[in-house]
Amino acid sequence: MQTKEKLLELLESNRGSYFSGETIARTLSLSRTAVWKAVKSLQNDGYAITAVTNKGYCLSEQNDILSAQGIRKYLSSELTGLQITVLSTVSSTNSLLREKAAGGTQDNCVILANEQTAGRGRSGRSFFSPAETGIYMSLLLRPGNCSSEQALQITTMAAAAVCASIDAVSDSEEQAQIKWVNDIYLHGKKVCGILTEGSFSLENGMLEYAVLGLGINIYPPKQKFPAELAALAGSVFQTPRDDVKNRLAAEFLNRFYDYYTRSEASPDYIEEYRKRSLVIGKQVLLVSASESKSAVVLGIDNQCRLLVRYENGREEACSSGEIRVKGVTHEN
Ligand code: BTN
Repeated sequence: MQTKEKLLELLESNRGSYFSGETIARTLSLSRTAVWKAVKSLQNDGYAITAVTNKGYCLSEQNDILSAQGIRKYLSSELTGLQITVLSTVSSTNSLLREKAAGGTQDNCVILANEQTAGRGRSGRSFFSPAETGIYMSLLLRPGNCSSEQALQITTMAAAAVCASIDAVSDSEEQAQIKWVNDIYLHGKKVCGILTEGSFSLENGMLEYAVLGLGINIYPPKQKFPAELAALAGSVFQTPRDDVKNRLAAEFLNRFYDYYTRSEASPDYIEEYRKRSLVIGKQVLLVSASESKSAVVLGIDNQCRLLVRYENGREEACSSGEIRVKGVTHEN
């Protein structure tokens, strides 16, 4: 770890407390000049570190900057082995992690970014990923022995986990909800999208690895949402909060890995998923490249497939596709 990262770890774990330059230097085995330089560098990155004569340095409780050190503070003890990297800007965390996966990187790798210049969404769409107002995160997963049908559950576990995490950190009376299969809504607006990309073996059709990507709009973007997203997109908060990005990222990782590492026999996340569904009992349009079919949603089964009845009375369990619900704003 670099000097700056070591210092950040110390200050993040003790927000609001003062440490003298001497104590920091001794604790981290650094010179006082090196401490001072690292403080300046963190301040340049936007960290609100106050320096008070005879008291020392203190990281304000109000800062909301995503960092691996900040996330680790809130992670459960089972996740200490996660390799977490936070980048200030990247084309796409999913693209970067897919490259790493193809190169053999292990499945304990998580990449986050403060900004994406080429964020990607489902169906070839782009994902608006402006600086500092969102969390853009990708996880590399190598579940082993996982068919394409089972792979759907990576997305649905993530949807249930992110909803519960948003509720845990937000003060909203309203619960986050899921528009099958992977869009998260709060107050009638989409606040999070999930894109799971996989590589499957040609020999046995099983999943070699998956890259699970989530984009969460935490605050309204500084330059507003682009016109085409204005009616659809929202954010979890309207005003700045203390350290909420690190907390939300960690809440998600804690919940997601808890679901993901449990045995298949106890899919209690499906209950969470169903409870938050925006679509059960609703009339929807199932949209594919070739056609749109009207159906009523009967429920969600234990594989998280959408159970629908078409107008001609035929019933089906759908494991992929997009749906449109009356009264809910959608992407074009
Ligand atoms: C969608 O709503 O269509 C899915 C959006 C997924 C966006 C996330 S942000 C992190 C990761 N990197 C990407 O390029 N996309 C996903």
